[in-house]
Amino acid sequence: MDDLVRLADAIETAETAVAVTGAGISAPSGVPTFRGDDGVWDRFDEGQFSYGRFRRDPEGFWADRVDLQRELFDGEYAPNAAHEALAELGRDGHLDAILTQNTDGLHGDAAESVLDRPTDESGGDEPPIVELHGNARRVRCADCGKRIAAEPIFDRAADGNLPPTCDCGGTYRPDVVLFGEQLPGAVIQRARSLARESDVFLAIGSSLVVEPAASLPRLAASSGATLGIVNLEPTPCDGVADVIRRDDVVEVLPELRSLVEAP
Ligand code: APR
Repeated sequence: MDDLVRLADAIETAETAVAVTGAGISAPSGVPTFRGDDGVWDRFDEGQFSYGRFRRDPEGFWADRVDLQRELFDGEYAPNAAHEALAELGRDGHLDAILTQNTDGLHGDAAESVLDRPTDESGGDEPPIVELHGNARRVRCADCGKRIAAEPIFDRAADGNLPPTCDCGGTYRPDVVLFGEQLPGAVIQRARSLARESDVFLAIGSSLVVEPAASLPRLAASSGATLGIVNLEPTPCDGVADVIRRDDVVEVLPELRSLVEAP
């Protein structure tokens, strides 16, 4: 039986189906990936954006962060067919959670467009989107914790207001997990319990080299889940996958979606 048909059947009969996604699912939307051909980390050094540097040298951190934000999120970008296929699987009750390493907010946009209403009014009929690494569309004050939209703050920083500060006098920081920082414990616990509970686990567009995402597929597989990996390049979890598709997410996910019978 064709691999994808097998995966679709497993999704149809699953109690719990979970997806973890990485930069590769947003690449077709024009958001650059971090590794692989022409990855962001070939042009920037991760260390420039570490938590330690933010504390030691907030001005230099912000000067570099403005360049990175422009590199990652330059111009308009929108969800692509892969984001929408996952959102449709969620809307139809076939996907119970999306754990994303991406900070671009595109899964939320896709959920809104598929549900055609703001997800905060959805009443829960779309899968929870767990932003493992936060969301780059927000900044938060490192002192008082206030969260606001990132764009005007990045505009201020680009105009030389370095580092941008909150009304309380604290320094703003991107509302993302910085290198050298732990993810919130509750987020890691939730991701791990979803992986353990899943009957089907999909790893989509990720090199699966950064924890905690890197361990989730193996955790799911060792708990008995059917593991499907969609990624252009090999990953360290390929050895425990039931289905591997080394193809473009915008080809595979709509095909997978179409094979899963709508209820
Ligand atoms: N279809 C399928 N796979 C793709 C596509 C595509 N259209 N485009 C790229 N890929 C694959 C690449 O082959 C690569 O293996 O997506 C993967 C993206 O891997 P990374 O760039 O390493 O991104 P990710 O796995 O999300 O990185 C995890 O690392 O730097 C940190 O915080 C950053 O969240 C990020 C984390």
